[in-house]
Parts: sequence; C-alpha cells; structure tokens
Amino acid sequence: MAIYRRLDPERLPHHVAIIMDGNGRWAGKRSLKRFLGHQQGAESVQYVVETASRIGLPWLTLYAFSLENNLRRPKSEVNFLMRLLKMYLNNNVRRMNDNNVRIQYIGRTDDLPDEVRERMQWAAEATQRNTGTVLTLALNYGARSELMDAFRGLCAEVQSGQLKLNDVTEQDIQRHLYTAHMPDPDLLIRTSGEMRISNYLLWQIAYTEIYVTSRLWPDFRGIHMLEAIEDYQRRERRYGGLADGTESDDVASLPANQLVG
Ligand code: IPE
Ligand code: IPE
Ligand code: MG
Repeated sequence: MAIYRRLDPERLPHHVAIIMDGNGRWAGKRSLKRFLGHQQGAESVQYVVETASRIGLPWLTLYAFSLENNLRRPKSEVNFLMRLLKMYLNNNVRRMNDNNVRIQYIGRTDDLPDEVRERMQWAAEATQRNTGTVLTLALNYGARSELMDAFRGLCAEVQSGQLKLNDVTEQDIQRHLYTAHMPDPDLLIRTSGEMRISNYLLWQIAYTEIYVTSRLWPDFRGIHMLEAIEDYQRRERRYGGLADGTESDDVASLPANQLVG
C-alpha cells in the first residue's frame, strides 16, 4: 500500500483508540435494518485489527458497546449486539492467533450475560500468549463509571491507611483505571462525523490527537486508519509547551515600559 510507505516508521502511534460509530446510518442509507449495519461493522473490525497487526501497532482499543448503549437502546438491539459479539469471537480467534493479536476487555463486563462472558474469557485465554497487537474491546464501558470505580478503590486505600490523602498522585488514579497497564492513546479516531467523545476514555485522552472522519464505520478499512495515522504524523504535539522552533522571549532585555504591571 502506497500510503504505508509514506508513513514515518519512527513516529507510528503506540496506541490508537477508535469510536466505531455509524452502523445504524450505514444501514438506514440502504433502507436496511440497523442490525445489518452492526453485522457489516463487525467485518470492519477484523480488517482494522489485521492492519494494526501488520504495521506493528502495539495497542488498538475499540469502543464496541457503551454503558449508555446498554441502558438506552431497545432490548432487541442489545441482544443482537451480544449475539454478534459471540459470533465475532467464535469466527475470529483463529485469525487473531494467525496475526499474533491478543484480545482483552475494559468496561463493566461482569454485567454482561453469562454466555457472552464465557466466550470473552475463552477468546482472551486462546490469545493470551500472542505478543503482537493488543486488541482491547470496550464493552459495557463508560468513562465516568471507570473513574467512579477508580475513586472507590483509591478511597478504600486511603481509608485503610495504606495511602495518605496528601500523597495521592495522578499515578495512583491511573493504576486504578481499567487501563492501568496501558499507555494513553496517541490518536483517537471517530467515524461518522460526530464531534463528541460519548463518555470514552475521558482521563486517558487528556493529550490525545483527535481525528474525525465522516466515513461510516461499516465502510472503514485498514487504509482509512493509515490515512488517520498519516494525518497524525503531520501534527505537532506540544503538551502545553511551545511550538517547535519557537524562541522564548528574553524578558530581561525588554524595556521596562513594555512589561505588564
Ligand atoms: C455504532 O453505530 C455501534 C454502536 C454504538 C454499538 P450506531 O449504532 O451508533 O450507529 P448510528 O450512530 O445510529 O448511525
Ligand atoms: C459511541 O457511539 C459508542 C460506541 C461507538 C460503542 P454512540 O452512537 O453510542 O454515541 P452517541 O449516542 O452518538 O453519542
Ligand atoms: Mg451512534
């Protein structure tokens, strides 16, 4: 792929997170039922996972099902998504192994149906020895509940005297998140054009670069992720500092009447 050759191998992101949105709209545009959009979306997942593995991306985190989706969508759609997840795992674990991909999950997965959790655990165990891309599926995930769970864990440590309140650091919060062992995303992609975060990884995306495409998730392929990465490589990350090459003002050399105050 020509675009792959244009990428700077020294500046590949370590962690790409994706909000996979637009399955319903994809189906609607074709006068199909929403569930067919979800089914097509599951195909996109495997294409993108395999591209991630091919370029050696260490972490890929996909927002597959939010807590709010679980609460606010009709039971029939939620049930279909659960069936689709089971099918996705059944059909793709072999390909994950062929591609050296390890799968894991974040979110309130304990609240998912037993037979879904059983399949999830099976897939995690079947791929646990793979050393390539780690595919993290966010399932029944909400960032505010993740933070709430983290604060509860942290408060328990303070209450028991293990940790002093004044000693609490950002790292202490970080190690209580579902993503404790993961780096923060470098790049967040959202498909379908919506300019919002929808309760995804709120703590972790503090300095993440954001890329929104109008392409609907079922039409999204590996090459579109590479386009997003190419765009990312043109960005300058500042983390609150100055732009590259900017010289700082030499305040001492300014005449006193040009100084504020
Ligand atoms: C994303 O597609 C998949 C899930 C949220 C599970 P949507 O189902 O949100 O599709 P739109 O946004 O209605 O098009
Ligand atoms: C975000 O998409 C959740 C997932 C992609 C799983 P939504 O379709 O649920 O987000 P909103 O409702 O448009 O914010
Ligand atoms: Mg949506």
